[in-house]
Amino acid sequence: MTKKIGILTSGGDCAGLNAVLRAVTFRAIRGYGWKVYGIHQGSHGLLERPVHVTELKIETFTAGLMRFGGTILGTTNRGNPFSYPVGDDRQDRSDEIVEGFHMLGLDALIGIGGDGSMAILRRLCEKGNINFIGIPKTIDNDIGLTEKSVGFMTAVDIATEALDRLQPTAASHDRVMILEVMGRDAGHIALNAGIAGGADVILIPEIPYNMDIVVHKLKEVTKREKNFALMVVAEAVLDENGRNLTIADVKGKRRYGGIGHYMAERIQEMVGAETRFTVLGHVQRGCQPNAEDRILASSFGVYAVDLIAEGKFNRMVAWHNRQVVDVDLADAVSSYQAVDPNSTLVQTARGLGICLGDK
Ligand code: F6P
Repeated sequence: MTKKIGILTSGGDCAGLNAVLRAVTFRAIRGYGWKVYGIHQGSHGLLERPVHVTELKIETFTAGLMRFGGTILGTTNRGNPFSYPVGDDRQDRSDEIVEGFHMLGLDALIGIGGDGSMAILRRLCEKGNINFIGIPKTIDNDIGLTEKSVGFMTAVDIATEALDRLQPTAASHDRVMILEVMGRDAGHIALNAGIAGGADVILIPEIPYNMDIVVHKLKEVTKREKNFALMVVAEAVLDENGRNLTIADVKGKRRYGGIGHYMAERIQEMVGAETRFTVLGHVQRGCQPNAEDRILASSFGVYAVDLIAEGKFNRMVAWHNRQVVDVDLADAVSSYQAVDPNSTLVQTARGLGICLGDK
């Protein structure tokens, strides 16, 4: 029987989302003869009447969409349907979303999301008796039970390239260059890019730092080893008083921002070296996916459709030990994955003599 499946992208965008949409569409149509409906703006498309969907076909992808960043379906990282902003109020609009899904006569839903949106989608699907499969994506790489999520390695490439570009200008001007990277509460981007980009200091939220240790390292590097230094700081690193630095967002919400600037001022003063900072921001999200992310996106998309064909639901596809596997969705959303301070990469950084701020 021809199945109809829905797919949506939810949470912050990242590189590789269109590659997932392509893989799901190709597998569903070429492998099983099913129909695929792309839901717009995350689950918000199911709130609209008529519901806002587009049928995804093989032709949708002929212009090389796999190579492009962003998501052709649009997405949102605001507006939990269980507490949806309506004027100055909040309403539970989850029933309308479930109704929208059933109006389309869909057999299953694939949600591409991070830990936050995956948890919301899981709750929605449980409530609406919707057959659900999750595909992990986020530049933060903080979703549990998967070694990699779509978008992460491209973000690491971009942050590494930023360090490659900062290095010659740092060396030319005898400066300390600080790169602030995203990652929300996890330091994966900072740690990976810092190692790949030859940083002297990497600060991540998972390892509390002591400013005297950071300053000592930067003095040693700039006075004894070379005339400049590179430092990476993750956006959620605290200031010396233990506070998160944030920027006002819409409707009183706050998002991380400011630690790069803070560090530059403190380090210039304490190290006595000219210091500059760069905030990489959304550059880490919006670009062509690298080969690794395209491969991951393709593998996840194909596998997710195969799970539906097997009638296996409430699963999240995951990357484990060189292959795609599926894990329990509830377990995945409840096992947040920050940087393990004892992990191989932390040991690698220490082995290279990179200062992580604690010793
Ligand atoms: O979760 C992805 C992410 O890019 C984080 O690394 C960052 O803190 C946040 O989203 C930025 O959110 P926004 O796009 O709303 O500014």
